[in-house]
Amino acid sequence: MTRQQPAQYAVIGNPVEHSRSPAIHAAFAAQTGQAIEYGLLPAAADAFAATAWDFFDDGGHGLNVTQPFKQEAAVFADSVSDRARAADAVNTLALQPDGRLHGDNTDGIGLVRDLADNFGLALAGRRVLILGAGGAVRGIIGPLLAAGPAKLHIANRTPAKAQAIAALFGDQDAIATCALADVGAHGPFDLVINAISAGLQGKMPDLPAALIADRGAAYDLIYAAAPTPFLRWAAAQGIERRRDGFGMLVEQAAESFHIWRGVRPDTAPVMAQLRPA
Ligand code: ATR
Repeated sequence: MTRQQPAQYAVIGNPVEHSRSPAIHAAFAAQTGQAIEYGLLPAAADAFAATAWDFFDDGGHGLNVTQPFKQEAAVFADSVSDRARAADAVNTLALQPDGRLHGDNTDGIGLVRDLADNFGLALAGRRVLILGAGGAVRGIIGPLLAAGPAKLHIANRTPAKAQAIAALFGDQDAIATCALADVGAHGPFDLVINAISAGLQGKMPDLPAALIADRGAAYDLIYAAAPTPFLRWAAAQGIERRRDGFGMLVEQAAESFHIWRGVRPDTAPVMAQLRPA
């Protein structure tokens, strides 16, 4: 009997060297007994499509797509899921039996699962604020809206970008936008999600003191071994419920793994095993 070659997966991005996805998928594979290999696929800024084609031509089965290629991947895919179309961004490419490439976006469901299942936060009827309107925000709006917040507010330094993202999602009653500088006039919020880019080099723009309600929560899409600047700010405001984006990373990976393999891994032990020290 010949042993089957493991199916090939990778994360494509630029930069991608520090991605935790290979370790997360290796842990999922070990837990579920799936025979896969998952690697890093760096691509030059202008070479996403060529690099992805080479990967699939060489027998690859699926890709995760990270910055800055998620929007390009939505065009590259032969078909996309409703949630990827709504976000106009793809983070998961899956080779279909007929050779076509299907694109999906698991970022938003990863966030909502981490908030609801791991952080124990019910979103229904809550006032939610997102800080930022960049690439990271596109994928999370649809699943957040589906969780039924009373209002989903997007505040951005450049308000036109917040408006453009809100316009992608039809239900304007549930979404509001404003300039970051004016956000204090709209609070307090039950949950504030920070999506202002990781490139801030340790600094957060000034935020008003009473932005988060008493007993409200703070969530940062990024994660690090040490508390992020936003979570340090929230702690200084007396906000006890704080969480970084490592759980979201593991949950979006689990959803991708399920799309590819039809098996849903148990995320809790993988989170505990791999969380940065
Ligand atoms: P990401 O993939 O992390 O979302 P991005 O698409 O480059 O990265 O988006 C960066 C986000 O951080 C944007 O919302 C950006 O605001 P603008 O749209 O006004 O550029 C926000 N951002 C970056 N630096 C900022 C700063 N110094 N103050 C406030 N917002 C900032």
